[in-house]
Amino acid sequence: MAQQINHPDVVEPGGVIGILGGGQLGRMLAMSAAQLGLQTHILRPDELSPADDVASATTKSAYTDEAKLLAFAAAVDVITYEFENVPAASVNFLTSSGAKVRPGVAALEKAQDRLVEKTFLNEIGAATAPFYAVDDLASLEAGLNHVGRPAILKTRRLGYDGKGQTTITKEEHDLPGAFEKAIEHAWAEIGAAPSILEGFVPFEREISIIGARSVDGDIRLYDAAENVHRAGILKTSTVPAKASAVTIQNAQEITHKILNALDYVGVIGVEFFMLKDSGLIVNEFAPRVHNSGHWTSDACAVSQFEQHIRAVAGWPLGDPCRHSDAVMENLIGDEVNVWRTHAEQSNLSVHLYGKREARPGRKMGHITTIK
Ligand SMILES: Nc1ncnc2c1ncn2[C@@H]1O[C@H](COP(=O)(O)OP(=O)(O)O)[C@@H](O)[C@H]1O
Ligand SMILES: [Mg+2]
Repeated sequence: MAQQINHPDVVEPGGVIGILGGGQLGRMLAMSAAQLGLQTHILRPDELSPADDVASATTKSAYTDEAKLLAFAAAVDVITYEFENVPAASVNFLTSSGAKVRPGVAALEKAQDRLVEKTFLNEIGAATAPFYAVDDLASLEAGLNHVGRPAILKTRRLGYDGKGQTTITKEEHDLPGAFEKAIEHAWAEIGAAPSILEGFVPFEREISIIGARSVDGDIRLYDAAENVHRAGILKTSTVPAKASAVTIQNAQEITHKILNALDYVGVIGVEFFMLKDSGLIVNEFAPRVHNSGHWTSDACAVSQFEQHIRAVAGWPLGDPCRHSDAVMENLIGDEVNVWRTHAEQSNLSVHLYGKREARPGRKMGHITTIK
């Protein structure tokens, strides 16, 4: 008979948090867990991961290796994930073995597929960009009639940091007779994979809300951050965001709705487009700690990482109150090489992820300036 796991409701100090994924988010979660007297065990497919340096234990395993997943589940007291592309089937397998996985599979399934995600958001009354499911050239053409141009074609699954996306420009950029070529090019560009076509949102700014929900349904939200992307990758997050009180309240209400609808436990990151008229459109959400919440490590009593560990361990949530204004800047690729210059600044905190190789576009660390 399959081994039966019996995870406790509350993980006491000394207990073990299992984390699926070993990137920088896992690393920062492990550091916060240690601060709370908890151990961490990381399961990741890689030989080495940024979280290894600070975790109590690691397992090298594919996310689909059931024997290894079971042994991992038996060695920990609760399981969470730092990576939204862990297969939902693996989480279902863990749950059916008696393991507690927080947040649960509902959040993962919705966040993994942009079409499912947007449909869910519309169902709970949150506005999204107009969208259309694309499975071939004919549906891409129909989608362009539906959402207009410019439009963004995105793979439904596995996109991150702007990868798996391509923009289809306005009609006036077409050379005569180039329409077919343009759609064929876009379709090839995203690898002819099941996709979603989104109308381009002419946003004034991008903001995000980092929220948390406890096992008891208590919800705490951090202040909204204003986010600037460069080449599809987050570059800076600034708090406070330039947005009216009404807009912020609207974003907070949507975040509450998402958390409750998913019966969520843990930290979530919700990304919004803010329009000129202050209207809000949800771009996407991440069922995990979020890059646009890294500032909370330096500008709040309880960071998003500590908050997530508290939530999944069944602890009371901490105070998300912001004590300082802050700007978080990602160090991408070889930008990390000037760590020393940053280290010389005052009111600035340096966070490096221990990655060996500074490949272009790779998030190597971040700095937070306290204002
Ligand atoms: N429909 C859209 N309209 C305008 N800009 C968009 C749209 N979709 C994405 N973008 C821009 O691209 C960035 C990355 O897209 P996003 O869907 O968040 O993908 P990722 O999963 O890579 O973060 C967004 O933060 C935004 O700047
Ligand atoms: Mg995004």
